[in-house]
Parts: sequence; C-alpha cells; structure tokens
Amino acid sequence: MALERTLILAKPDAVQRRLIGRIVSRIEDKGLSIVGMKMLQVTPDLSRQHYAEHVSKSFYPELEAFITSGPVVAMVVEGPEAITVMRTLMGKTNARESAPGTIRGDLGASRQMNLIHGSDGPDAAKNEIATYFKENELVSAPGILTSVLWAKEEE
Ligand code: RTP
Ligand code: MG
Repeated sequence: MALERTLILAKPDAVQRRLIGRIVSRIEDKGLSIVGMKMLQVTPDLSRQHYAEHVSKSFYPELEAFITSGPVVAMVVEGPEAITVMRTLMGKTNARESAPGTIRGDLGASRQMNLIHGSDGPDAAKNEIATYFKENELVSAPGILTSVLWAKEEE
C-alpha cells in the first residue's frame, strides 16, 4: 500500500450548482487530506492538455465547451491509495450508471456533466498535479489525526 496524491476537480457544473461544499465534505468524511486547493478557469489550451487522450474523439468539442464554461475548484487529495479511493468515491463516468452513495451517483444524471474529475492512475496524477499546482502551493497533510485514520503500514 502507498500514500498517494491525486488531482481532483470540482467541475463547472458542481460550482454552478453550489455543490463545492458537499463534494469537499465527501472527501473529508472519507478521512483523506486536502493538501492543495484553488479556484480557476480552465482555458481551451488547458483543456486540450488535461484531456489530451480525448482531443480526437467526437465528444471533445462539447467536453471542452463544458469544462471551460465556468470556474472549477482544483484540489490535491492525499491518503493511502488515494487515486483508487477517489475514483471509487466518484462513481462511474456516466452518472446515470454510478452507484447510489457515490458523488456522481447521488448528485448527477449525466455522462458529461458528472461533477468531478479524479486522476485515473499514478502517471496521470503526477502530470495533472504538476499542471495545476506549483510545488509551493501544496502543503504537508495535517498529521494530528493520522493515527486514528489509518495504520502506519497502510502508508
Ligand atoms: P474525468 O477524466 O473527467 O475524471 O472522467 P472519467 O475519467 O470518469 O472519464 P473519461 O473517459 O476520462 O472522460 C472524460 C470526461 O469526458 C466526458 N465524456 N463524455 N460523450 C461521451 O461519450 C463522453 N465520454 C466522456 C465526461 O465529462 C468525462 O468525465
Ligand atoms: Mg478521465
């Protein structure tokens, strides 16, 4: 097991719908640590970089229009296996198919307006964190509760 960091976005639909607090609460309730956080506007250039794997797909123009349609909240979230834990907490890409109890399953019903982004693996996490945050914008996780959140060997 490993302590990981992952890049999370509360997407424009989440911000417009005033769901930032509820999404942050889900992350905090899970016991993960937020070690970076800021609001920003995704530009078309940043969208093409972030969604490079999707740029040639038919749905990309609509995806870019959506992700640049308003501000997002970018976060770096840390914890044991944080990448997978966050993907599970988010639910399936298509919110209509996401299980109840997940962020997408509880709060949305769209494949595109699916509220939240989370890195899909260690390489993506590393690249995406470096894309959205400078090193000096990240903090060390507050450690005082760690001993009641997980065992040392889980880090
Ligand atoms: P994300 O990258 O945003 O965390 O979402 P994901 O890994 O669950 O899904 P991914 O396959 O990477 O797709 C990125 C985003 O593109 C939109 N999408 N539209 N119309 C379509 O077929 C389609 N497929 C994906 C969604 O907003 C998805 O989150
Ligand atoms: Mg993805």
